[in-house]
Amino acid sequence: MKKLMMIPGPTPVDQSILNALSKDTVSHLDPEFVKILKETLEDLRTVVMTEKGQPFIIPGTGTLGMEVAIVNSLKKGDRLLVISHGFFGDRFVEIAQCYGIEVEVLASEWGKIVEVEEIAKKLKEKKFDAITLSHVDTSTGVCTPLKEVGEILKQFPETEFIVDGVCATGGIEERMDDWGIDILFTGNQKAFGVPPGLTNAVFSEKALEGRNSLGKISAFYMDVNRWLPVMRDPAGGYFSTHSINMVYALQQGLKIMLAEGLEERFKKYRRFASAFQSGLKELGFNLLAAEEIRANTVSTILYPAGIEDLSFREKLYVNGVLVSAGKGVLAGKIFRLGHMGNISENEVVATLSIIEKTLSDINYDFRLGAGIGAAEKILFAK
Ligand SMILES: Cc1ncc(COP(=O)(O)O)c(C=O)c1O
Repeated sequence: MKKLMMIPGPTPVDQSILNALSKDTVSHLDPEFVKILKETLEDLRTVVMTEKGQPFIIPGTGTLGMEVAIVNSLKKGDRLLVISHGFFGDRFVEIAQCYGIEVEVLASEWGKIVEVEEIAKKLKEKKFDAITLSHVDTSTGVCTPLKEVGEILKQFPETEFIVDGVCATGGIEERMDDWGIDILFTGNQKAFGVPPGLTNAVFSEKALEGRNSLGKISAFYMDVNRWLPVMRDPAGGYFSTHSINMVYALQQGLKIMLAEGLEERFKKYRRFASAFQSGLKELGFNLLAAEEIRANTVSTILYPAGIEDLSFREKLYVNGVLVSAGKGVLAGKIFRLGHMGNISENEVVATLSIIEKTLSDINYDFRLGAGIGAAEKILFAK
């Protein structure tokens, strides 16, 4: 039985994207590939709503995006403020420390966020060369109010605003220009619904100037200045071999997204999140994150008494649905459910139904159909 992959990435891949992967591999200078890369770079601009931001498509994943952002904006001894809402926020600390960057962390309890006022206070106390923020921390399912943080950062133009969009870009609105984001990056495998394998990063003009002001940096492959000529003019030459077939896949993924419309997709994920959350609450589960900070792309769901994490997830998998475990302090207490990428109402309804079947299998006390009923009211209400 093909399992429904309802984890927060990789997300299910549409057949047309898989087909794109199997097209002929051509030279990176083949005019057809050059055209595709140019269009794909332009589509990335559209997704993050920037006019002049410079997109980079680099073979790698989300973590490479994090490291690319750090090494191109900071040098040894520079000061970085990390706002951490969980596992992926904390990862920035480890990366920055590899490069001798001075890191200060404002961390929330897992499942909560650092208040915007607290960020403002910190920035007033001390000068920071950059600040990092995960739009959605996939480990806790919280969503940062990026726009508000961006407003505050406008008072601190010396601080570069770095955003990890891995679990958000293309699934939740991100207005790079309007919100003053300097570096925004994502992977392929979450809201884009494309197999993992590319790092998609966009640098503002200020971020590119920032890179230049660093001079020579301790990175070669990750140096955006080395990639810049081929990103500006893909016909112009070679820096490192493009991941040709992955670019085909990304192109198709972005085509699907833009044909559906970004706003439509954002709304769709809001609806799916709310259908899942309402259905699960009806079954006795609770949500880790408060409603006002809950992400639309992933839900973090607390178990009610009497359900054991591992055996529940194992039985759920046997019945046909894959979900993710909690990380760190949340291990055993929550499961994580992804609802982004190329999914439809069908996956939402089927997942809830299979969750109900699994609960019935373990003799959990609930009313069969209660979760599905609550979700259908949201999905199909006229
Ligand atoms: C918010 C966030 N940032 C960074 C990463 C790291 O991405 P990757 O696993 O593609 O290296 C992830 C992965 O799930 C993530 O969710």
